[in-house]
Amino acid sequence: MKILAIESSCDDTSAAVLDEGQVKSNIISSQYFHKKYGGIIPELASRAHLKAIAMTVRGALEEADTKLEQIDAVGVTANPGLIGSLIVGSNFAKGLAIRYNLPIVPINHIEGHLYSGCLQDASLPFPFVCLVVSGGHTSVFLVHSYTDYEVVGSTRDDAAGEAFDKIAKLLGMPYPGGPVIDKAAKGGNPKAYDFPRPMIADKHFDFSFSGLKTSVRYYLHKNFPEGVPENKLSDVAASAQAAIVDVLVKKTVAAARQFNVKNIVIAGGVSANSQLRRDMENEAAKFNIASTAPEMQYCMDNAAMIGYLAERKLEAGPISDYFNLMYTVNPSAIRAARK
Ligand code: KG4
Ligand code: ZN
Repeated sequence: MKILAIESSCDDTSAAVLDEGQVKSNIISSQYFHKKYGGIIPELASRAHLKAIAMTVRGALEEADTKLEQIDAVGVTANPGLIGSLIVGSNFAKGLAIRYNLPIVPINHIEGHLYSGCLQDASLPFPFVCLVVSGGHTSVFLVHSYTDYEVVGSTRDDAAGEAFDKIAKLLGMPYPGGPVIDKAAKGGNPKAYDFPRPMIADKHFDFSFSGLKTSVRYYLHKNFPEGVPENKLSDVAASAQAAIVDVLVKKTVAAARQFNVKNIVIAGGVSANSQLRRDMENEAAKFNIASTAPEMQYCMDNAAMIGYLAERKLEAGPISDYFNLMYTVNPSAIRAARK
């Protein structure tokens, strides 16, 4: 089965072609211009998707050496995300589905991230614990199969990526803050400042990151009222990153142990973080648990993960379920409900 997948939920326009679960192309066109506004401007994001989508889809087909006539189905992100951005991708996909009489599989973006570990490694066994950690989400899932999973913990306020972005802003660093902090932290001392690790010792698997951001703000205000000196930036970045990563790692490994699961997956934009990837692997190994981190192109928002899940859904069938062009995109189906 050949799948054309489209992802446009936030600020990346992406298209991919998959053939029997193999990624033949995965083109990601990122909207870097949001940097100058210090965050994503939704209206500009949807206009940029409009400009980029046809070219991105064409690029994915060309790279996969595939013609539209050879495609068997279209998969597209339908929720959650920015409404305008979702509409662009979804309407483009519907247009193709009508023109080529193809089934269309609406996919939940978070579920896309959830199974990106399987896309990376098809032999990954169920059940596994997955930490989905991005700019909008931070949740721990217990994943039983492609159709059955439960949320075992979630952030009660900010997402971890949001914490990275907000702390970077306090440090005068550009958006998105995660990659910049990751880079700055490499030269810093993670023990220089002892920022709080909220709820790290609690028995549940929920998170809270808003206090950390406030604590960094107070700390900077008190100690560096004139602004953080250049030579202290990397220490603050490393210490803040360590606080976020420590909580993510401890809670995820604790969940895997509690549910007696031998595999952990980290997914979503923040799973690109070098310390998170390293620490999760090391901490999990202490308990004989394996940790999978998707390669970078599958950590960030990408259409390959959407196509992968679309193909699994089509396999589960019946295919007749996927000729509904009347589905609507939904910006707010953000946190998968607890079982
Ligand atoms: O999954 P994603 O691309 O988009 C959302 O669905 O939110 O995640 C974007 C988030 C941003 O908050 C960004 O700062 C963060 O992922 N991020 C990182 C790194 N790369 C991206 N956070 C920490 N370290 C990184 N290397
Ligand atoms: Zn995402």
